[in-house]
Amino acid sequence: MGALEIAPDVFSVGAKDLNRKIFDALIPLPEGTSYNSYLVLGEQKNALIDTVNPGFEKELMLNVLEKISFEKLDYLIMNHAEPDHANAIPEILEEAKNAKLLASKMGAQVAKGYYEVPEDRIEIVDETTRIPLGGKTLRFVDAPWLHWPETMFTYLEEDAILFPCDFFGQHIGTKENFDYEMDWERLEEYAKRYFGEIMLPFRSAGQKALEKMKSLEIKTIAPSHGVIFTNPDKILVRYSSWTSGKLAKHALIAYVSMWGSSEIMAKELERKLREKGVLVSSYNLQEADLGEIARDLVDSACIVIAAPTFLGGVHPLALNAASLAKALRPPAKYAALVSSYGWGPMAGRTITEALKGTGIEMLGTVEVKARPKKDDLEKIGALASIIAEKIGANGSEQSPGLRSIINPTG
Ligand SMILES: Cc1cc2nc3c(=O)[nH]c(=O)nc-3n(C[C@H](O)[C@H](O)[C@H](O)COP(=O)(O)O)c2cc1C
Ligand SMILES: [Fe+2]
Ligand SMILES: [Fe+2]
Repeated sequence: MGALEIAPDVFSVGAKDLNRKIFDALIPLPEGTSYNSYLVLGEQKNALIDTVNPGFEKELMLNVLEKISFEKLDYLIMNHAEPDHANAIPEILEEAKNAKLLASKMGAQVAKGYYEVPEDRIEIVDETTRIPLGGKTLRFVDAPWLHWPETMFTYLEEDAILFPCDFFGQHIGTKENFDYEMDWERLEEYAKRYFGEIMLPFRSAGQKALEKMKSLEIKTIAPSHGVIFTNPDKILVRYSSWTSGKLAKHALIAYVSMWGSSEIMAKELERKLREKGVLVSSYNLQEADLGEIARDLVDSACIVIAAPTFLGGVHPLALNAASLAKALRPPAKYAALVSSYGWGPMAGRTITEALKGTGIEMLGTVEVKARPKKDDLEKIGALASIIAEKIGANGSEQSPGLRSIINPTG
């Protein structure tokens, strides 16, 4: 893509990867991703912030060479040690003989371990460090656990640009480079997916970082995936809400069904919840995009699993969804299960077990032998009433006694 000027003497020099279909061997990328790297040119010194994924080293180097030769690179800054941003460090340091690698204390350890950077090429930086480049000054924000322990942000004082690496990232590999080139809804969707996949388990670290950012003037946020925010207000408002765990009146239904019974139950629950004013998103786990599920986990108040008993447990796709939900540590307060079985119900027990330790309250399980009948569907209606009431949806009213016909914990 060449070197793209984002502010005077500040260039985006990374690479777009529209062909990448999956991240972390788990999350689909509907429109690829990008590995953004930034070159800051001062009157005396120059710095490169983050590098690129394996396979894109050459593109990064050619982009840098459009602006400076590698002897003129004084600093290579590693905000985060994950290979999608740090893997080109050895190649860059090999070319840029005078450059020092700047990293957090923990980052320096990781850089030695993963990238075999010699001790004498590394300088540890922290919040007291200032790197004057001549007309441009770099500072650092200690921002651990976003999303690895060594992560930090770089801040360019004169232009008020924050380079937070993965924080504020979005997997977007299309031609757009700036927020104003994208429809906000589409951008928000990608930012929220990314937040759900990567940052959701680290909400409190995210809140701390946002708090620190308040003491900085920030005109631009230039993350290392996706587009640059030239008007950061909107995304800051979203991040503030997403990191706080603020819940929407939203239930997420993840279902899998071999012969259709659990699916009928999932659909009935969805219909009833909607009637009660609950926002519902429903995913068939056979074909679901886990990125969408991660996005919805950001603010769903209730997680519903619908799945049959399978070989003395629950269907493995449902178990997988439950373990993903557990790992992402979503703010959801409630869960529920609806299930069909052939001869001995085990799904409720298995899912309840899988969610242990999350603090998520199991509101009820409805387990039905073979096909759901009229009275089973009534139980589902009662479960919908409990969910709607718990999450405070409009129009939810629960007659006393309904609860008694549902197993409280399976
Ligand atoms: C591969 C397989 C394994 C199953 N294992 C169990 C089981 O261990 N216990 C049980 O009660 N039913 C078991 N069943 C029966 C299903 O739970 C039952 O058919 C259920 O109604 C299927 O729900 P569905 O229509 O949502 O797929 C199994 C079915 C299949 C196909
Ligand atoms: Fe990362
Ligand atoms: Fe990344």
